[in-house]
Amino acid sequence: VKKIAVLTSGGDSPGMNAALRAVVRTANYYNIECYGVREGYNGLINNDFLKMGARSVKNIINQGGTILKSARSAEFRTAEGRQKAYDNCVKLGIDGLVCIGGDGTFTGAKIFNEEFGIRVIGIPGTIDNDIFGTDNTIGYDTALNTAMEAIDKIRDTATSHNRVFFVEVMGRDAGFIALNSGLATGALDILIPEKKDSMDDLFTNFRKAEKTGKASSIVVVAEGEKLANVYELAEKTKQTFPDYDIRVAVLGHMQRGGSPSCADRVLASRLGYGAVVGLMEGQSNVMAGMRSNDVVYTPIEEAIKKHNEINKDLMLISEILAI
Ligand code: F6P
Repeated sequence: VKKIAVLTSGGDSPGMNAALRAVVRTANYYNIECYGVREGYNGLINNDFLKMGARSVKNIINQGGTILKSARSAEFRTAEGRQKAYDNCVKLGIDGLVCIGGDGTFTGAKIFNEEFGIRVIGIPGTIDNDIFGTDNTIGYDTALNTAMEAIDKIRDTATSHNRVFFVEVMGRDAGFIALNSGLATGALDILIPEKKDSMDDLFTNFRKAEKTGKASSIVVVAEGEKLANVYELAEKTKQTFPDYDIRVAVLGHMQRGGSPSCADRVLASRLGYGAVVGLMEGQSNVMAGMRSNDVVYTPIEEAIKKHNEINKDLMLISEILAI
């Protein structure tokens, strides 16, 4: 490869900048020309390329968000949009594309590769951790810590007022953030889409807790939970336990921001490097991920179709330790 482009797309995640920095600097090291693309796939369509050198990515390793900006491009979902994007890549002589993002980003990259043969490589950047082929996605660790700190604060006030809190965390259809932040904050119950929950089980846990003298509780709920959303859960709980003083907190987009954790910076640096080296070695239509501390390449198709299993031990441990 001689000229590559790099973009960040979909929901941003802490560590995307660190990954961008690693891509640009690795390219620079191996004398590969590197262009940043603004606003995800929209930048490819709108010819919004920015030549990047080692200094273009100074002071960003510690910054949340993405300096390239991100978007979920509707136009790139159309054949016309992708044709425009490809024409712009050809005009500039781009022979490799690094796409940092989640499953939507990878779906776009895969189609683009299959339609035009342009070499693409993915780097998993999403707080949801819902990508197969990597133990962790970039931004997940930071988001987990943000959620944990927020829930710790909620615990302070919950304890002071003997309250029950239902806390919704992000994760789209996946429960990784909920399960791990719930375990780390001592939640009474953790409701995630990967397991079948019931109001009866939740109420049983409340009753058991009451018997042990527990006066306040936190229930962590994944946004993708199928049983009910946090407001409905609070409502139903109030009907069964009228004496409970119940509050709801939705953590929302604060989980996507903030300076990346050390683990995310290291992961992003390794995968950014791994992506460029992968392109140099002829890899394409794959994602660079981290498995057991090694960079591995997984076909994008598998990365988006398969799912990492939720750790059953964590579920059991959280139940045993909760009460
Ligand atoms: O994929 C990251 C994520 O933050 C999910 O956890 C959440 O469901 C979604 O993006 C929110 O998307 P938006 O920023 O478009 O509201």
